[in-house]
Amino acid sequence: MSAGRAVDRLGSGDGVRMPPYARGLYARFLARFAERMDPRVRRLRAEAVARLALAPGARVLDVACGTGLSFPFLVDAVGPAGEVVGVDISPVLAAEAQARVARHGWRNVRVVVSPADSAPLEGAFEGLLLFAAHEVLTSPAALDHLFGHLAPGARVATFGARRVPPPLGLVVNPLLALASRRMLPFSPPIDERPWRGLEARLVRLAVTPHWGGTMYLASGEVPRPGAAGSHGSQDLPEAGSAPAAPGDDRPAR
Ligand SMILES: C[S@@+](CC[C@H](N)C(=O)[O-])C[C@H]1O[C@@H](n2cnc3c(N)ncnc32)[C@H](O)[C@@H]1O
Repeated sequence: MSAGRAVDRLGSGDGVRMPPYARGLYARFLARFAERMDPRVRRLRAEAVARLALAPGARVLDVACGTGLSFPFLVDAVGPAGEVVGVDISPVLAAEAQARVARHGWRNVRVVVSPADSAPLEGAFEGLLLFAAHEVLTSPAALDHLFGHLAPGARVATFGARRVPPPLGLVVNPLLALASRRMLPFSPPIDERPWRGLEARLVRLAVTPHWGGTMYLASGEVPRPGAAGSHGSQDLPEAGSAPAAPGDDRPAR
């Protein structure tokens, strides 16, 4: 795979089973909305990427990359010798991601338009980011495919929403149920443990609650053959601090 290529397989998206929000005008509106909301989640993007513990020169996958809001953090982590491959099912959102790549002049970032469960990937990756990627995180077929491209010891980080107990749950859970029905018609609804598909695939899976427990950040490691390490997840207390975050408006590399 050569770095810096334009969007692969960019088409209309017709014929692909795609969530309604990822198509046409709806997707364009959501892209603008995500941009405006991003300052609120930037700290968590930085933390998710920090949890990948990427070394300079590493290859990392950002699956369900949307408009590429995590790219600045990933590019920063892997450096010019590394590679970032974004995958998204939506041609509209992937085109925005590709425009971001062009704006920054990143030569080591590639955007692939494809469902996660059949994304054309080559070689092994040392990191996988699933940021606000519930559809992918809860799809065994997508996880099977992606984990087939992760090196032993690769790290995986995911961030998303989850159901919470009362009293907060009395307000939050019905909203999540509504969002699940409307936005995620092809996925299991958002529940208390959306990361459960990672539990048998990763070791040292740690889950941190955020925003009063309504959001979570989970990360762990692909087991190395023959190495010890326990499956299952460990709940950690809500963290107060996080690494500094490079903004998308910093000077282009
Ligand atoms: C909530 S957005 C998050 C985008 C991005 N990760 C971010 O943090 O801004 C979810 C993304 O998942 C993508 N998506 C949904 N189902 C997918 C699938 N099966 N394969 C790949 N991408 C998918 C959508 O097109 C959308 O861009």
